[in-house]
Amino acid sequence: MLASDMKNGNPGKLSTSGVRSPVKLAKVPVKDFGLNAALKAQSDPSFEVKPRIFEEFALTGRVAIVTGANRGLGLEMAIVLAELGAKVYAIDLPDSASSEFAAAAKYVKRLGSSLEYRQSNVTKQERISKTIDEIAAENDGRIHVCVAAAGILGIQADCTDYPADMFKEVMDVNCNGVFFTAQAVAKQMKQHDIAGSIIFIASMSGSVTNREMNWIPYNASKSAVIQLARSMACELGSAGIRVNSVSPGHIRTKMTAGMLDGEPELEAFWASLNPLGRIGAVHEVRGVIAWLAGDASTFCTGSDIIVSGGHTIW
Ligand SMILES: NC(=O)c1ccc[n+]([C@@H]2O[C@H](COP(=O)([O-])OP(=O)(O)OC[C@H]3O[C@@H](n4cnc5c(N)ncnc54)[C@H](O)[C@@H]3O)[C@@H](O)[C@H]2O)c1
Repeated sequence: MLASDMKNGNPGKLSTSGVRSPVKLAKVPVKDFGLNAALKAQSDPSFEVKPRIFEEFALTGRVAIVTGANRGLGLEMAIVLAELGAKVYAIDLPDSASSEFAAAAKYVKRLGSSLEYRQSNVTKQERISKTIDEIAAENDGRIHVCVAAAGILGIQADCTDYPADMFKEVMDVNCNGVFFTAQAVAKQMKQHDIAGSIIFIASMSGSVTNREMNWIPYNASKSAVIQLARSMACELGSAGIRVNSVSPGHIRTKMTAGMLDGEPELEAFWASLNPLGRIGAVHEVRGVIAWLAGDASTFCTGSDIIVSGGHTIW
């Protein structure tokens, strides 16, 4: 449609070449789910009638990577992906995994899945890329899911005094690290024609500023993560690769435990800032990760999903 047509009230024609940037149209998937399954069952008595929603969530035979998964939210997300049947690789900084991780890996093995640990550093582009390439090579190039959860909070300090080194470090891990991870994964997905799902762990701090918490680089880095997800979603959509972010609210993990334990009234203050009147538990991010990782969310990309007990709505 020409700009002059718009001015003249002429709706014009949708063109796939010329004025609008050419879009390669993709096929709309047709699946025997829901009403389609009901109609098929009506016309074909041999059609197996069973709930299909579990298939949409299943990750059987898929490979997943989770950064920052030696503990906390990352480890919980790694477990849920393994529960859904994925072969999961956890990436984190320490040379060897934590005792919590060892317990999780044993538990996952008993469930019939696998959870392996790989040491790496998301801020080192070559290093994280090599780690991801190695995981891909072990799996015939197939990486279907990536959760980039590695992150740091930094210290609290007034914006006027915030130390430059700490500012740079927070941006490096939370923003550059997420980008380097996703970049390496997306390269593998494109090369092997995998319509994968990449999930960034941002924070509600990327959309609102936490009241009375002076951690400016954290907030700025998480806004960047949300925008990285949108931008990568635009570039990778034509390859069928989806990129979304999840933004948790206040949750007790080792990241927040130091503050919560050191200031007994803080948990009640944080809890008072959302309509549910409490902070979150680590397991409360499982559902959204399961949904975004699998086929139940195939039309969702570039979204930021806030899981905060409603903190951002008032
Ligand atoms: N806990 C919360 O209230 C909360 C709220 C919103 C968002 N988040 C986000 O969720 C994610 C997980 O947070 P958490 O609360 O589980 O924190 P956590 O500190 O328990 O876990 C973070 C993990 O990231 C790893 N990590 C840090 N730097 C790394 C690097 N350079 N390379 C590889 N791994 C690295 C750490 O070693 C650690 O295992 C973070 O991105 C955090 O910002 C947490």
